[in-house]
Amino acid sequence: MTRGRPGGVRHNRDADWDAWPVADYLAENYRELHPVDIGVIRHHSAFYRRFAPGSLARSLEFGAGPNLYPLMLAAAASRQIDALEPSSANVDYLRDQLARGPDDSWDAFHALCRRLDPALPGTPAEALARVRIVPGDADDVLAGSYDLASMNFVAESVTEDFTEAAALCAAFVRSVRPGGHLVASFMERMPTYRIGTGPAWPACPMDADVLRSVFAPLTDSLRIDRVAKDRTLPEYGDTGVLLLTARRPEGA
Ligand SMILES: C[S@@+](CC[C@H](N)C(=O)[O-])C[C@H]1O[C@@H](n2cnc3c(N)ncnc32)[C@H](O)[C@@H]1O
Repeated sequence: MTRGRPGGVRHNRDADWDAWPVADYLAENYRELHPVDIGVIRHHSAFYRRFAPGSLARSLEFGAGPNLYPLMLAAAASRQIDALEPSSANVDYLRDQLARGPDDSWDAFHALCRRLDPALPGTPAEALARVRIVPGDADDVLAGSYDLASMNFVAESVTEDFTEAAALCAAFVRSVRPGGHLVASFMERMPTYRIGTGPAWPACPMDADVLRSVFAPLTDSLRIDRVAKDRTLPEYGDTGVLLLTARRPEGA
């Protein structure tokens, strides 16, 4: 439930992330492969194919939520993947999936990820074997501790305050060592959104120019791509998805 602040923008701390509606979120977004997932997975797979299998010691998934495919994508390149997540509801789901094995609905995601990156472990469970769940939020990340960080639908989806969204992007960049690698996706121009019939969650509409203004001063090799709006998803008010790759500058 979001508590909100009458008359003001809602900040990250104003939302009750422990009450994240995992089942409804999965039902709306991840129980089947949607066109937008195919676009994100194609983009991210091309990024991960740059790395030799097992060549990265530690990767971070920043605000993992209950989404397992970014964790699978990281598995070919990374020897350890930390899934950072503040919501107890999402942490419970991740723990359950690692303990019991991923729900069958993730098979299609794993199959596509492996088709595009054959170095991926052969089953969804094997692809998740390198994942360590880290309960916590952006403030808990030690700067420079990762070789690679991935962030999907977080900075623009967890606050209405642009300065705070930009600070989350900066924490994401800082999480990797100088020269470390970054991959991310963002809902494009998404206003406040609802999952199912639940409450409105805070969001901060961003477009490619805004993303560039946030990341260009902090990164090298910045590239921003886009996939078209997915009309098979519920209407979240977005205009598509923005895809980013970059590096933290050497010596930063
Ligand atoms: C829209 S969901 C995206 C989840 C997932 N990454 C995905 O691809 O579907 C936003 C996620 O950000 C997490 N989150 C909220 N505040 C955060 C913070 N300050 N630092 C890191 N993650 C946060 C939420 O708990 C939630 O899992």
